[in-house]
Amino acid sequence: MAHLFNRNVLLGVSGGIAAYKSAEVVRQLQELGADVRVIMTRGAREFITPLTLQALSGKPVHTELLDEDAEQGMGHIELARWADLLLLAPATADLMARLAAGRADDLLTTVALATPAPILLAPAMNQQMWRDPATITNAETLVQRGIKLVGPAEGQQACGDVGPGRMEQPEVICAAAAGLFQSGKLAGKRVVITAGPTREALDPVRYISNHSSGKMGYALAEAAVAAGARTTLVSGPVNLDVPEHVHCLKVESASDMLDACLPLLPDCDIFIACAAVADYRPAEVQPDKIKKGAEEINLRLVRNPDIVSAVAASEYRPFTVGFAAETRDLLTYARDKMRRKGLDMIVANDVSRQGIGFNSEDNEVTILSHHAEQALPRASKTTLAGQIIDAVASAAVRDTDAGLS
Ligand code: C5P
Repeated sequence: MAHLFNRNVLLGVSGGIAAYKSAEVVRQLQELGADVRVIMTRGAREFITPLTLQALSGKPVHTELLDEDAEQGMGHIELARWADLLLLAPATADLMARLAAGRADDLLTTVALATPAPILLAPAMNQQMWRDPATITNAETLVQRGIKLVGPAEGQQACGDVGPGRMEQPEVICAAAAGLFQSGKLAGKRVVITAGPTREALDPVRYISNHSSGKMGYALAEAAVAAGARTTLVSGPVNLDVPEHVHCLKVESASDMLDACLPLLPDCDIFIACAAVADYRPAEVQPDKIKKGAEEINLRLVRNPDIVSAVAASEYRPFTVGFAAETRDLLTYARDKMRRKGLDMIVANDVSRQGIGFNSEDNEVTILSHHAEQALPRASKTTLAGQIIDAVASAAVRDTDAGLS
């Protein structure tokens, strides 16, 4: 089944009686996983209120081209760039004529000209208007330009006529929209990824941490999105931009990270622990800044919770993947770690080697599961992330099919 996960769908509604069905179109696009924004023409607003579509889409509805406030929020060019698909439903004879003529006389037609996204159009009009040579020519022109049509359907019309011109049913339109995109190996799966270091506070201004950059975890999140997954990053403090379509929870300490991860598990299919979690934290966090004075001070550290082990032991246990950074006997230690932590898969890398692993651009890893071993040659973290997600997706689907997870 095709999905629209991680896709931005801009729905353009024009002024026909079928506009009342656009509420259902919004709902069904969202059910398929899309982020939806709506543009309404003036005519559309005679049939259904912007408030209805705003409430359903959860975003302000765009109506005017020359509106200073709206342009300051998300302007028409930004909106055109935001869209992965422009869906026009219903598309009246007038809208089709204006599009065919290349007009830009309202927000919707302007965005249609300005968007690089594919356009899918669901015509809706009286059967005689649909059969009129002017409309036929306009439809042919639009199809020649690469615009896809879904419908119209035939049958009883609101005006009492019978014939072609009814807007297709919302489920047919939304399936056609989803069918324009490749689904990806993780379409609709929910993936949680931990990334970056943790910070363990000593006092209000100092902490213990490590050099993890978070690059591998963020690259994995981007690759998971590209594979169609609904992706959440639980990230320690890093200097990286959150990839598009990724929901990011920022945390500081290992305990924060555990607290952020556990509630996500009932809605998680795959958990990837990529964070460099501090193994120990100060036994006590001083309420005030520790003063310089004594020649020697002792720091008492206590063990942090092991997040990935807790996830693997949880009643909601997702397909669980860990990372192992070792300086010797890489595969032996990694296999042992996979067993001890109850993981399905572990990604092993040798951190004693120059130029790979911690805080560098490249990496070279071996993926171990209970059934297989796959060595991936040195490559950028982005390339490796795609390969790791591919391997995780294959193994997770295989295990699910076998009823193992
Ligand atoms: O035990 P070690 O730190 O070598 O294990 C590494 C793996 O375990 C990584 O996947 C890391 O994200 C995860 N881990 C964790 N919580 C910890 C320590 C490590 O989730 N407290």
